[in-house]
Amino acid sequence: LAREPLKVMISGAPASGKGTQCEMIVEKYGLVHISTGDLLRAEVSSGSEVGMKAKEYMESGRLVPDEVVTEMVIARLSQPDAKEKGWLLDGYPRSPAQAQSLEKLKIRPDVFIILDVPDEILIDRCVGRRLDPLTGKIYHLKNFPPETEDISARLITRSDDTEEKVKTRLETYKKNAEVIFSTYMDLLTKVDGNRPKEAIFEEIDSLLQRICEGKLAPVKSI
Ligand code: AP5
Repeated sequence: LAREPLKVMISGAPASGKGTQCEMIVEKYGLVHISTGDLLRAEVSSGSEVGMKAKEYMESGRLVPDEVVTEMVIARLSQPDAKEKGWLLDGYPRSPAQAQSLEKLKIRPDVFIILDVPDEILIDRCVGRRLDPLTGKIYHLKNFPPETEDISARLITRSDDTEEKVKTRLETYKKNAEVIFSTYMDLLTKVDGNRPKEAIFEEIDSLLQRICEGKLAPVKSI
């Protein structure tokens, strides 16, 4: 039975755990993970034209201009693998204009997941975060320390993970959240993100299972 591919949006404040949950979702569901943060960081390190435009915004914790990000996301969503396997959009849409760009193209998810984490936890998560440039894996000095000395030696810190910049990022998130959520009102699911990552994934997993089953159910004829 052919099934419509799964389409998921995941949102949440900086360091609410989007990337961490996406790693687990992708492993189980094989969706194409489209993280605008990761795509932009790759553009910055390659020194591309997009990267040069994005750099100063990202380093100060502000949003990159809508048109730069939107073009990148639409291009990625149009690739054959995203159409075949389904997609997991992480960190987009992040402004009312971005949400409208997708609405105009009639690109809607099956579900819009919001990871809910109290502000005071977010700062600590950002400041302790480390990334493995080789595998892209996300660590935390206290919560998820690296498995080996070798990994530990190559870990890097994001330049926007200082307390001051996290506060700017959080303000921007809060300013835009309501309008974006109202665009996806009928598809929202809020998940408590202040729990062990496995418990959070369990809840997301059963949500996605139910959606997949719904897609498989035969259409009842009237
Ligand atoms: P982006 O990379 O999207 O950053 P963000 O939204 O601020 O989210 P983070 O990546 O900081 O956090 P996360 O929720 O993925 O958490 P993680 O899993 O890593 O964007 C960066 C910048 O790019 C923006 O500021 C902007 O400039 C630009 N940009 C991106 N998208 C844009 C757009 N659409 N428009 C315009 N500009 C855009 O977890 C965080 C830490 O917590 C880790 O150390 C992790 O190990 C730990 N952790 C995770 N889960 C748990 C748990 N359950 N318990 C304990 N610790 C945990």
